[in-house]
Amino acid sequence: MTSDAIKTFPKHFLWGAATAAYQVEGAFQQDGKGLSIWDVYSHLPGTTYQRTNGDIAADHYNRYQEDVGLMAEMGLKSYRFSIAWTRIFPKGTGTINPKGIEFYNNLIDELLKYDIVPVITLYHWDLPQDLQDMGGWENRELVDIFAHYAKTCFECFGDRVRYWITFNEVINFIMLGYRDGLHPPGVRDEKRALEVSHIVNLAHAQSVTEYRKLVREKKILDGRIGIAHVLLPGFPISNTEEDVQACEFYEDMDFHWFYDPSLKGEYPERMRAWYQDRWQAPIIMAGDMDLIKSAAIDFIGINYYQSAFLAHNPSDGVGMAAINVTGEKGTQQESGIPGLFKKVINPKIEYTPWDWAIYPEGLYEGMKRIRERYGDIPIMITENGLGDKDPIGENGEILDYPRIEYLREHIRWCKRAIDDGINLIGYFAWSFIDLLSWLNGYQKQYGFVYVDRQKGLKRIKKQSYFWYRKLIQTNGEELQG
Ligand code: BG6
Repeated sequence: MTSDAIKTFPKHFLWGAATAAYQVEGAFQQDGKGLSIWDVYSHLPGTTYQRTNGDIAADHYNRYQEDVGLMAEMGLKSYRFSIAWTRIFPKGTGTINPKGIEFYNNLIDELLKYDIVPVITLYHWDLPQDLQDMGGWENRELVDIFAHYAKTCFECFGDRVRYWITFNEVINFIMLGYRDGLHPPGVRDEKRALEVSHIVNLAHAQSVTEYRKLVREKKILDGRIGIAHVLLPGFPISNTEEDVQACEFYEDMDFHWFYDPSLKGEYPERMRAWYQDRWQAPIIMAGDMDLIKSAAIDFIGINYYQSAFLAHNPSDGVGMAAINVTGEKGTQQESGIPGLFKKVINPKIEYTPWDWAIYPEGLYEGMKRIRERYGDIPIMITENGLGDKDPIGENGEILDYPRIEYLREHIRWCKRAIDDGINLIGYFAWSFIDLLSWLNGYQKQYGFVYVDRQKGLKRIKKQSYFWYRKLIQTNGEELQG
């Protein structure tokens, strides 16, 4: 893209960065916090890279003031973080833990002190273990239990917080947790995964309903509520009819199945019929679709890291591949669903050390597809970033130039989207600070701020920190360079 097209971003554009509780907070047993499924799962042998876990993480729970200070110095306009459900309700429901409320009150107040807009995610995968013990997301009781937790958060923090995200990446915690058995609860059963996807949609809808009620009653600020989905658009690897159809099926399965309920209040008909035929799932009860349909959202959050290149997969073709957690290039195999599609390596594209296709244009194409299918819904890029092993210079500087390049190119396509009239309201880089990368431990870094695990978790600003600061200061002018 030529730089001529780049001018400035809208005046109140939310330049942000994001994290999630389990990945950054640590303090996993401090001040009355209960155990989440990740606290338990990551302690089981063979679940994560070199047995890493979030027990300490970046210890953000105890260092939030220092971290918010770094955000302020960077000029961050907004910070997206998630609430650890087990800090508010150690057992998922029942008695509130006042210390948990106090922590998030302090964090929010600290952000507001510097005019940093808080964006809160209610569920970033750390389900209370006690709720898992009663069936987790397979138990319909969780719809009300989640809505109660959400309502509690709205009531406690909604006097100062205007942006809410109910769930982060429904597809990932469900498919990795229930289809691939790689995340907790470690189940491999597609039928169960589908049931969960429906129950989570109900929980999302019920919590949106609670939110609207509190706003109507003027008990909280009249803010905005949405959900954050994965955006991983598909592109056929060739123009053949077979590959194009494979790509269309992939988009129905991985994109529309998750976005349609949130944005249209329904499931895509072809997929619904296909799942019913194959697994008689999900079970949709009377009133379910009315609830889902009634819960319109104000914006859609999208997490974009990569695109998928699709080819036809013969019936005896490849199945799902294990995830590359080692960070060695080329260890990710092709993967897919026999008879339907497979994700293939595109030789024309650069890949990260974790074999994620770097394709900035895919972010733009994905946003266009959202607008085509769902209309002019405001879009917030809730995550975008490069997971890398950052080079360290002779004097300890973190030379993460590939991250700068990655972010710059993606943000250029954001500007193009805005120029084309797409209603983009914010961009949140993943992540503000180096944090636990779920299965990949601490070797896969995303942050603007490095955490020296050899030196008492000392914070060091990376090159990208200075670059992003300039980008924010100039409201995107830096992209000209
Ligand atoms: C998203 C999640 O899937 O991508 C984040 O919302 C996660 O929590 C990020 O860290 C990158 O994934 P990973 O596996 O490289 O950490």
